[in-house]
Amino acid sequence: MPVAGIDVGSLTAEVVLLKGNEIIQYVILPTGANSKKAAEKAMREALESSGLDQSDLLYVVATGYGRVSIDFANKKITEITCHGRGAHYLNPDVRTVIDIGGQDSKVIVLNEKGRALDFTMNDKCAAGTGRFLEVMAQALEVELEELANVSSQARDSVSISSMCTVFAESEVVSLIAQGLPREDIAHGLHQSIAERTAGMVNRVGLVKPVMITGGVAKNAAVVKALEEKLKAEIIVPEEPQIAGALGAALFAGEELNSSE
Ligand SMILES: Nc1ncnc2c1ncn2[C@@H]1O[C@H](COP(=O)(O)OP(=O)(O)OP(=O)(O)O)[C@@H](O)[C@H]1O
Ligand SMILES: [Mg+2]
Repeated sequence: MPVAGIDVGSLTAEVVLLKGNEIIQYVILPTGANSKKAAEKAMREALESSGLDQSDLLYVVATGYGRVSIDFANKKITEITCHGRGAHYLNPDVRTVIDIGGQDSKVIVLNEKGRALDFTMNDKCAAGTGRFLEVMAQALEVELEELANVSSQARDSVSISSMCTVFAESEVVSLIAQGLPREDIAHGLHQSIAERTAGMVNRVGLVKPVMITGGVAKNAAVVKALEEKLKAEIIVPEEPQIAGALGAALFAGEELNSSE
């Protein structure tokens, strides 16, 4: 019987439906201003597109920063635990998970069962997160999805000295005004985010294999820069954004089995 996992992040809400150990459906929607509404909408869409009703779901686990507002969940589990579980399902060999989302980034070290042994998190500022890249894409007048492509055409890398998103944005605006090529600036921005993330990885200690999850995993320039800094290959799952919701759904399945 189906169970669900839901991850309500700062920018996106994901739902994963599982039957046994198999993903039967997933949905990714923008969170918008109301995380409760976004959660309900994502769940409704996932159920509708798989011909199910809310009453068919035997167990729901919620995670993500917006999990507190999800009253239809049977249980709430932290993001670290769910991301670790989801990544382990996607590749059981993975020992380090780097999740870069909209407003925070985390590095999780896993044991062979997918349990978190250690983690570190940056949730204090937007620098090094997806939000940082969104602001910079806007400043560069480039679509977010195109940022990696633009950066791949760089001939040089412009180093960005500001750590803070707000200051880095003014720096980018002034670099554009000085006539520096957008490609080189984009390259520098990706280097900066990779540098920060690599610093976090080194704090917990790099254990291979490494996987990247979260929306920023869809930015190939971040992945490449990070691989160079860590001197390690990084596994990018087919749909990196659903790892948290997937982990939550796997826990929902376990809860159900243990109650039967
Ligand atoms: N197609 C894409 N190309 C490049 N970047 C993308 C793409 N899709 C999403 N992103 C990046 O992913 C970020 C959102 O990531 P994600 O959906 O994992 O965030 P979240 O889980 O809502 O946030 P958090 O976990 O911090 O609360 C965006 O800020 C953006 O930078
Ligand atoms: Mg997230």
